[in-house]
Amino acid sequence: MPTGAQQCCAPTSVKGLVETIRTIAWMKEMARQARAESRIIGLVPTMGALHEGHTSLIARAKQQCSPLIASIFVNPKQFGPNEDFAKYPRRFESDSEKLKQAGVDALFAPEAAEIYPKDFSTYVHVEGLSERLEGKSRPGHFRGVTTVVMKLLQIVQPHFAYFGRKDAQQARLITQMARDLNLDSEIVMCPIVREADGLALSSRNAYLNSEERKAATILYRALDRARSELAAGVRDALQLQSVLHRAIGAERLAAVDYAEIVDAESFEPVVRITRACYVLLAAFIGKMRLIDNMYVETKSPGFDELMFHL
Ligand code: PAJ
Repeated sequence: MPTGAQQCCAPTSVKGLVETIRTIAWMKEMARQARAESRIIGLVPTMGALHEGHTSLIARAKQQCSPLIASIFVNPKQFGPNEDFAKYPRRFESDSEKLKQAGVDALFAPEAAEIYPKDFSTYVHVEGLSERLEGKSRPGHFRGVTTVVMKLLQIVQPHFAYFGRKDAQQARLITQMARDLNLDSEIVMCPIVREADGLALSSRNAYLNSEERKAATILYRALDRARSELAAGVRDALQLQSVLHRAIGAERLAAVDYAEIVDAESFEPVVRITRACYVLLAAFIGKMRLIDNMYVETKSPGFDELMFHL
């Protein structure tokens, strides 16, 4: 037991639910023991309201790691003042069951005051990358993300930490942070999980009414059109952007926030597609803002035979 830890803070173990750790001291102690036994620690950070996107990261992590730790922390610092922090879905019991079934060894689920005590004053900011795209539309968002992920990586010190390509810019920023700050954790990026009709799974999809839910497939359909154009030989970014705008413009309930083709490393806009890139979309469906993307790469030197990750 960690020094000074109260009995009331000990991990809880209830049948059918995953063992839950609430304090940093206990989490560090469990990770320390695992490292002492030369085990490979995996971490899957989440904000809960778990769906198959999250469980796909867990399945991937299970192949490489034991123990596997998942975290649930609805991070107040990554929500803007007009965003949905208070409303963000919190489903602790069913999440815990899902984690147990998925084979997670322990859940780290601290309270906000545990992560951010009153005098908390250190933030991690990845310059440049954080200001563009999602960062521009959601000022301060990425500072909150990188700060909390840095803390989680420090507390657990996993060998591998898993992130979804659904949030491509977030995963890229975290990779950059890990590199810049010489972290020992390897950041693993996992593919996007979609509904049968193409909509990328997201905890926020639950907010959509049935009409909006149907309209929301426009993000996938727009990306799919861009894929057809690219497959037909189009390499001009402006031309692809107008394909995306036209597709989304045709959907009454949808409005584009941004539609960009960016370099896969720098996330700077590209003019012609001659190297690995992302086609990134953010659009409002009614009041709800959704994001989606397609990763485009090639194995051929002339960037003619493309591979699409949608
Ligand atoms: P959250 O939105 O809960 O997502 C947790 C992880 O699941 C992220 O790495 C995200 O990219 C991944 N994910 C979400 N939907 C996915 C999908 N459809 N397919 C594949 N992966 C998917 O992202 C966050 O939480 C937070 O910003 C966090 C990193 C936990 C920091 O607070």
